[in-house]
Amino acid sequence: MTKVQVKKAVIPAAGLGTRFLPATKAIAKEILPIIDKPAIQFIVEEAIAAGIEDILIITGKGKQEIEDHFDANFTLEQNLKAKGKEKLLKLATETSNLNIHYTRQHHPRGLGDAVRHAKAFIGNDPFLLLLGDDIIRGENLSKQIIDLYAKKRQTVIAGVRVDPDKTKNYGILAIEKTATPHVFQVLDMIEKPQDQPSSNMAAAGRYILEPTIFSILDQLEVGATGEVELTDALIELQKTHPLLAYEYQGEWFEVGDAKGMLKASIIFAIDHPEVKEEFIPYLKNLAEKFENE
Ligand code: G1P
Repeated sequence: MTKVQVKKAVIPAAGLGTRFLPATKAIAKEILPIIDKPAIQFIVEEAIAAGIEDILIITGKGKQEIEDHFDANFTLEQNLKAKGKEKLLKLATETSNLNIHYTRQHHPRGLGDAVRHAKAFIGNDPFLLLLGDDIIRGENLSKQIIDLYAKKRQTVIAGVRVDPDKTKNYGILAIEKTATPHVFQVLDMIEKPQDQPSSNMAAAGRYILEPTIFSILDQLEVGATGEVELTDALIELQKTHPLLAYEYQGEWFEVGDAKGMLKASIIFAIDHPEVKEEFIPYLKNLAEKFENE
């Protein structure tokens, strides 16, 4: 029997980042910062704050910077120590003692294939899957779906409502209300629908999955897109296991391209203790300028 407590997380980070070229030609997209913190650090911090103890990051060619970021940097630490820069030293070291494990996806065959690489790490446990392009602001979404899983023991897909013209960019869930607020039964799912789907609830890059997903992923072929889709495995799973959708009430940013990253950067700059003082008046000025034009 699988455990109820979710203590393991998986972060696929093998994508080529082509939507972010040329920035991602020589840099892993997960390392691109929102203000001063790599996007993947936001994801890792969310997982840790949700009670996750071990994280598997699925990397690929050219992603060494991710491992370096979560490693110690001896020269930098010595330098900061010698100069008595305690605050900077804390920033440089707070990410180096986490239980982060790595494996590599050798061929870019899509999200479903990347998740399949977590099979040995996961064993018989339920796990949290966090997609690196999805950043949240507000309540800890991972914690919310972990808590829901503990109550219901069913696969959970986190969702957010998107504008109807954006549904073609995401996995879209056909849903039915349950008695619990924000919790829905998933009736169907479609990856990046080109026609108008029945709902505007997009999968928001956070899932609680059980190990049964691996046997389904193993049987999936590479689809028309040339990729193994996680959505296809979830559709298959839904035939035998009820799936839940949890509607997130906070803000969600898809930072896999420049527009999303810019939106997230602006909003996080407003939160940032060392940036906001100068940045908020700057934004206000800019807004006034636009109004007067
Ligand atoms: C992936 C998933 C999709 C989900 C999206 C969220 O798509 O396949 O179902 O809605 O993440 O960002 P990708 O953005 O990797 O194409």
